[in-house]
Amino acid sequence: MKKVALVTGATGGIGLATAKRFIDREMAIVLCDIDEEKGTSVTETLVNDGAEAMFVRCDVSNEEDVRDACQKAVDQYGRLDVLVNNAGIGNRETTLTELTLSEWQKVIDVNLTGVYLGMKYAIPFMKESDGGGAIVNVSSLLGFKGKKFVAPYNASKAGVITLTKNAALEFGRDQIRVNAVAPGVIDTPIVDGWREQEQKWKIMSSANALKRVGQPEEVANAISFLASDEASYITGTTLMVDGGGLTY
Ligand SMILES: NC(=O)c1ccc[n+]([C@@H]2O[C@H](COP(=O)([O-])OP(=O)(O)OC[C@H]3O[C@@H](n4cnc5c(N)ncnc54)[C@H](O)[C@@H]3O)[C@@H](O)[C@H]2O)c1
Repeated sequence: MKKVALVTGATGGIGLATAKRFIDREMAIVLCDIDEEKGTSVTETLVNDGAEAMFVRCDVSNEEDVRDACQKAVDQYGRLDVLVNNAGIGNRETTLTELTLSEWQKVIDVNLTGVYLGMKYAIPFMKESDGGGAIVNVSSLLGFKGKKFVAPYNASKAGVITLTKNAALEFGRDQIRVNAVAPGVIDTPIVDGWREQEQKWKIMSSANALKRVGQPEEVANAISFLASDEASYITGTTLMVDGGGLTY
C-alpha cells in the first residue's frame, strides 16, 4: 500500500519541492495551502503527470481547517503516514516595540500554533497506521540565532525546535518519529523582500560556508530523508540545511 503524506504550505517553494520528492518515492500526497487557485492548478499538473495527489485548502492556524485536512487525507487514501508542517510566513521587519500585537500573533499563529495543530490532528491517525508515522517540522536557522527586526519569526521557529522534541518524547512509543529541519537562506518567494535589496542580499546569501543560497530541492531532500525509513532511529532532532550558516 502506498504511504500517504500531508504537506502544508505546499503550493510553492520548499513545500512543493517536498511534495514532488515524495511523489518520486511513490507516495500519495495531500497538498495543503491557503492559496486555493495555485494549489488547484499545481495539483492538477501533478495528477496529469501521473501522481496520486489531492489539494485541500487549509489555513494551518485554523483548527477546523487542519482537522478537516487530516480527515480528508484519511477519507481519500485510507491512512496517514507522514506529515510535513512546512507552511510559514515572515513578519514586517521592525523592532519589537514597533511591532503590533496582531502582527506578533499572526506569525506565532501560523508558524508555531500551525505546527502544534498539524501534529494534534495527524498523530491520532498515525497511531492507527501499522507502521507508526514520521513528522517533519520546518524550523529555520533563525530558530537558533537572533536577527534584528524579526522577533516573532525568530521566536516561532525556536518554538518549533522544542515542540518537535516534546512530540518526539510523547509519541516515540507509538513509533512516531518527529524531527525538524532548519533551512538557511533558500531561494523561494519568502525571501523576495531581502532579494530586492541588492547589498543586503549579497551579504545574506553568502553568510555561510558554501557561499551561496540553497535551493528548495536541497531542503526537500533532507525532509524526505527524515520522513523515510532510512531515518528509522532518528527522532527529536533538528537537521541544519543551511550550507554551514550556523557554523559561519
Ligand atoms: N526560504 C527560506 O530562506 C527559508 C529559511 C528558513 C525557513 N524557511 C521556512 O520554510 C517554510 C516554507 O517556506 P518557503 O521558503 O518555501 O516560502 P514560500 O513563501 O514559498 O512558502 C510558504 C507557503 O506557505 C503558505 N502559507 C502561508 N500561510 C499559510 C497558512 N496560514 N496556512 C497554510 N499555508 C500557508 C503560502 O501560501 C506558501 O505556499 C516556511 O516555514 C519558512 O519559514 C524558509
